[in-house]
Amino acid sequence: MIQYVLVLLLASVVQSDIFSSTAHLQNLLHLERHLVTTLHDYVDRTEVKLNEVKRYLNLFYDSYQEVLEEKVPVPGNGEDMVANPLQAYQLVKRLSVDWNTIRRAMSTDDWLPIRKLTKDYRQLMPGKEDLQGAALALVRLQDTYKLNMTDVARGNILGVPQGTSLTARDLLFLGKQSFNAGYYAHAIRWLDEAMTKARLEGNTTAGVTEILAFQASAVDMHDKLFERTDIDVSDYDTFGYPLNGTLSAHRAALASTRTRKTVKLGNGVSVHDEQLNYMALCRGETLLNPVQESKLKCYHETRKHPFFLLQPLRVEVRSLEPLVVQFHNLLTEGQTDLLRQIAEPKLARSMVQADKGSEVVSVSRTSQNAWVGPKDHPLMARVYKLVESVTGLSTDVDEGHAEIVQIANYGMGGHYTPHFDYLLVDKEPEEIQYVHPKELDAGDRTATLMFYLSDVTRGGATVFPKAGGSVWPKQGSAVFWYNLKKSGGPDTLTLHGACPVAIGSKWVANFWIREKGQIFRRRCELDPEL
Ligand SMILES: *[C@@H]1O[C@H](CO)[C@@H](O)[C@H](O)[C@H]1NC(C)=O
Ligand SMILES: *[C@@H]1O[C@H](CO)[C@@H](O)[C@H](O)[C@H]1NC(C)=O
Repeated sequence: MIQYVLVLLLASVVQSDIFSSTAHLQNLLHLERHLVTTLHDYVDRTEVKLNEVKRYLNLFYDSYQEVLEEKVPVPGNGEDMVANPLQAYQLVKRLSVDWNTIRRAMSTDDWLPIRKLTKDYRQLMPGKEDLQGAALALVRLQDTYKLNMTDVARGNILGVPQGTSLTARDLLFLGKQSFNAGYYAHAIRWLDEAMTKARLEGNTTAGVTEILAFQASAVDMHDKLFERTDIDVSDYDTFGYPLNGTLSAHRAALASTRTRKTVKLGNGVSVHDEQLNYMALCRGETLLNPVQESKLKCYHETRKHPFFLLQPLRVEVRSLEPLVVQFHNLLTEGQTDLLRQIAEPKLARSMVQADKGSEVVSVSRTSQNAWVGPKDHPLMARVYKLVESVTGLSTDVDEGHAEIVQIANYGMGGHYTPHFDYLLVDKEPEEIQYVHPKELDAGDRTATLMFYLSDVTRGGATVFPKAGGSVWPKQGSAVFWYNLKKSGGPDTLTLHGACPVAIGSKWVANFWIREKGQIFRRRCELDPEL
């Protein structure tokens, strides 16, 4: 159990990290390009300086060349060289004119533009924690999607070439990060890859001996888990058996329970099973049995609404209990692009902070969301109306029937661990007293409608680990479900999470519809009898 709590904690830490925002990574990319241009400049300037220094040295050696080679006589054993008028003239000239040239050249601080850049963008520059976060995001991707580590090391993720590969040093780092996060089996596998790579590279980025030492302690730590009687070893990331030495029959039987034979769904499942379901669903595995699966269907729906008589809604049922449906082709590509454009400056604004008129970028790490209301853009007003027609629920923001829309951007590894959307029903009375009266008046989040504003190259599904359903991002479609039962109680089967984005970037727009104003609206069209 400790292990999974740990994993969940790590997941939420990484979520707010640099990797989870495409916008943030874009800024880093721009910053690096800026730095590289400035470094080129630095190299050019430094070369000019070095040439000045070399020129001086050459002048010096040239003028003494013949003396040094003893081709001309030097009176008084060299001490009288100053008695040679030409030598004396050149000596004076060098130290007055030429030396001054060097002095002037050297008086400019060519590193200054770089110092200034790194100072101005200090908050954007990633630190040690960011690197750890990035490594953990990679580890989590590998884990969730069961990526072939050899392929990852060679620069191939889910069949998509990355145009770069990992060095032995990178792989060693990933091994260390996995180890520190308690993923022992993963750590050992990364270290195996590091070893292979180090041999190929001939110990250039990391040495075989260094990796071996780390691997020995990882294996040791891994095997010690099987000796402990105070833990359930199946809660830990292991190979299921000790790598060195033998396993007692009792421990072997325990370890074998780690491989899951039956899928568990529903409200009673353990956190452990929820986690396994989440990852399996993210990989696109089917958890429902064939009978349940056969009940998921697609149909067209006009809802006797003039809006949809001409162009019926294309509905795909993704889960029956709770009912989760995906509406296809609700928005056109042009509309989704425009919605992203509307949100983008708001995402950027929270990150770019002008300081004394200069271009200082300050990054709040969690600012990957933008909030947009119906009055912010004519298209937003239209989308609110569309949501009202599709769901039959009121989306009147002024009346508190719906919230302003949250547009969110997830980058590589960006994900959202399983959670509920309702805000109030599961709160204790002592917590409720801190809720803003306006929120209480609007009531809970009855329903969620989430638009996918982009396709995702790999990963990024919305999955329901208790219900066993999954929805795949498709630009212009939307997923809809009720968070509350008709009785007003919480529907705990709506537990849902966003899978890590493996490749690409994911954009969604969240409509949360409140209880207020829906009394006579919640219709039967979307009920399971369908
Ligand atoms: C991983 O990929 C490599 C090379 O593509 C292959 O040789 C190896 O068998 C794969 N490993 C697994 C466990 O699929
Ligand atoms: C790398 O290091 C190992 C251990 O020190 C050594 O046995 C091996 O020959 C080295 N390989 C190369 C190419 O230097």
